[in-house]
Amino acid sequence: MSSDPRFFAFLKERIGLDVASVGEAIIERAVRQRCQAIQAGTTNDYWHHLQRSHDEQQALIEAVIVPETWFFRYPESFATLARLAKARLLEINQMRALRILSLPCSTGEEPYSIAMALLDAGLAPHQFKVQGIDVSPLSVERARRGVYGKNSFRGGDIAFRDRHFVEYGDGFHIAERVREQVRLQVGNLLDPALLANEASYDFVFCRNLLIYFDQPTQKHVFDVLKGLTHVDGVLFIGPAEGSLLGRHGMRSIGVPQSFAFSRHAEPVKPEPVFMPMPIPQRSAAPIPVKPRPFSTVSAQVVPIKAPASDASALLSRIATLANEGKSVDARAACEQYLNNHPPAAQVFYWLGLLSDVAGSALEAQGYYRKALYLEPQHSQALMHLAALLESQGDSAGARRLQARAARSERADSEQKP
Ligand SMILES: C[S@@+](CC[C@H](N)C(=O)[O-])C[C@H]1O[C@@H](n2cnc3c(N)ncnc32)[C@H](O)[C@@H]1O
Repeated sequence: MSSDPRFFAFLKERIGLDVASVGEAIIERAVRQRCQAIQAGTTNDYWHHLQRSHDEQQALIEAVIVPETWFFRYPESFATLARLAKARLLEINQMRALRILSLPCSTGEEPYSIAMALLDAGLAPHQFKVQGIDVSPLSVERARRGVYGKNSFRGGDIAFRDRHFVEYGDGFHIAERVREQVRLQVGNLLDPALLANEASYDFVFCRNLLIYFDQPTQKHVFDVLKGLTHVDGVLFIGPAEGSLLGRHGMRSIGVPQSFAFSRHAEPVKPEPVFMPMPIPQRSAAPIPVKPRPFSTVSAQVVPIKAPASDASALLSRIATLANEGKSVDARAACEQYLNNHPPAAQVFYWLGLLSDVAGSALEAQGYYRKALYLEPQHSQALMHLAALLESQGDSAGARRLQARAARSERADSEQKP
């Protein structure tokens, strides 16, 4: 199927999705699936059906959204929330319940983690309420059901599961006392009427959504989020989204790995750009041997002395450690990889992200460039380097890299059947 820009424009307008962030192939696949599901003869027929049917619009949205989430994602942010919540209760003389928003909440892991963290920190149920909102009715329905499988419990410490869940078939059911703290609703962050009559929130979580928006949409959404956050409140965002906020009058509160911003905090080291993500498919395959172009990263590269399966296991481990915020261990695993396997773009990419997290923009740039030397179309390295250049004022350089990333996505999609 050739790219049909009408679908890209539709999704951008409805949910803010920027085709460049997920790649054309994802959207084309979703359109193909929906064409088949309703037995549309051509994409043009499907387009006309889409215009007429609200249900079909929702179905297409469901087919493209990325509901990836899990409990206590970025654990440090929940520890920070618990500390800040106790302080905030004192500030407001315990006169009212704290108001906390999780938008997007996806299938509920984030708002329930907020509730568990606060209950575990000793807050009484009447001291806080959490509101979870997501554009996907299916995800909100799953959140309401509150039954979760293994994928929702990642990372080393899942002791909270024993405290707050009961086994239910193959999965785990969230305890009623946690569920009662969370109100769930369907809603679109781009809808001007959403929460228009609500008081502001003491804490707002908006994580891993802005990365799917283009810059004008991000700017608009930051203004919305700023409006939703109480003037003395705190906004938690995703690791990849930090560098954008500084330009919108909010400052990091300076707690590493929490990605928390307020209007008042003194300008401290900017929150790093760090986008946890699953290892792309290509990494699971044996890593191709390429000439090692750099000599400074680790002392010695010993050519293929470990089997490729070890290489992909180690790559998965690096991803897990980085996603859990264990930067030192993740970096050590990268070094271990480079010492035992041929250089891989993916490892330099992770080192770039870890350097971003540590606030070393120059070092990060170096690693991203090494990733691109090995794999010129590594789209995540292209996107992150572009974001870095943009945050340093090099918009032209950033645009060139974004165009390269878009070309790479197009080439990928053309290769797919
Ligand atoms: C990757 S999940 C993030 C979930 C959670 N915040 C986290 O970080 O784990 C992204 C979610 O954004 C939702 N979403 C996409 N566009 C949205 C919009 N315009 N308004 C509200 N939710 C949206 C999707 O349905 C999806 O559930």
